[in-house]
Amino acid sequence: MIIHSRNRRLRMHQSLRSLVQETTLTTNDFVMPLFVMEGQNKQEPIPSMPGIFRRSIDLTVKECQELYSLGIKAVNLYMKVPENLKDNTGKEAYNPDGLMQNTIKAIKNAIPQMILMPDVALDPYSIYGHDGIITNGQVDNDATNEALAKMSVSLAQSGADIVAPSDMMDGRVAVIRQALEENSFPNVGILSYAAKYASSFYGPFRSALDSAPKANTEIPKDKKTYQMDFHNSREALNEVFKDIDEGADIIMIKPGLPYLDIVSKVRDAIDLPIAVYNVSGEYAMIKAAAQNGWLDNDKAIIESLTSIKRAGADIIFTYAAKEAAILLNS
Ligand code: PBG
Repeated sequence: MIIHSRNRRLRMHQSLRSLVQETTLTTNDFVMPLFVMEGQNKQEPIPSMPGIFRRSIDLTVKECQELYSLGIKAVNLYMKVPENLKDNTGKEAYNPDGLMQNTIKAIKNAIPQMILMPDVALDPYSIYGHDGIITNGQVDNDATNEALAKMSVSLAQSGADIVAPSDMMDGRVAVIRQALEENSFPNVGILSYAAKYASSFYGPFRSALDSAPKANTEIPKDKKTYQMDFHNSREALNEVFKDIDEGADIIMIKPGLPYLDIVSKVRDAIDLPIAVYNVSGEYAMIKAAAQNGWLDNDKAIIESLTSIKRAGADIIFTYAAKEAAILLNS
């Protein structure tokens, strides 16, 4: 029999393959998460995330300059909060002279065009390692929302462009939106972690910030009463639509690679920009395998980030942003 239809025809040369290529990854797609700590001229490697560091503010600014010159125009900020500043109210999160606030001011001052998307959640500030205030042994949704609103206003006052609540409390987008409007920040956006799953892939991140839920019999040991159950898919749409109604500007889905079915489903359902978080455990897996010589680091990174975009992401939060930018620029 004669075969007339041959899909291989369009794969015969690189030039032809590039003509029919459907997805193109660029540095415009990336947001780089950065870990900040107190001190001056300090940089500490994070063992479970090879190539990633905690840095003092001065070195963070320097890193942002490098990122910007590579074409990365947005960073997501996380603080390593000293134990003595942690409590059960999270009040350090809205200290006008806090580490996050000072980091935002320093980066904005040096690189005004860099988009700053600080994380909004209480876990790095919590003695319990939870994203919320604990009342009677439970994560207290509405009390937490009040703290998150104060934190968001404080970050806006410091110069944040977009606040990124990652806590998964119900109704917090509405409470934060209202607080931003009332405090004259109509143009500060909200990137809402709308579908964030209770995932084992956050392990390396929690060790970077020492922010894992503390072993204590009185309080929940995990985040399953607020983050989503990984067995669920339809529930993601329910979360996404609620956050859109409450005023979210960008919708986040997290983790990334094991959840591309969710990304694709949400992409089909909404027209708002979608961000996907290629989380610490996804990064650590590639690094560990590459260090063992089991796969090619550079190729695996470009392939996995392209897959996230192909599934429907407009924006990718990834610890590999800098090395991917270097690869894409070369
Ligand atoms: C906490 C927060 C987490 C991450 C971002 N913000 C961890 C968690 O929910 O426990 C994880 C990011 C990563 O693993 O890269 N609000």
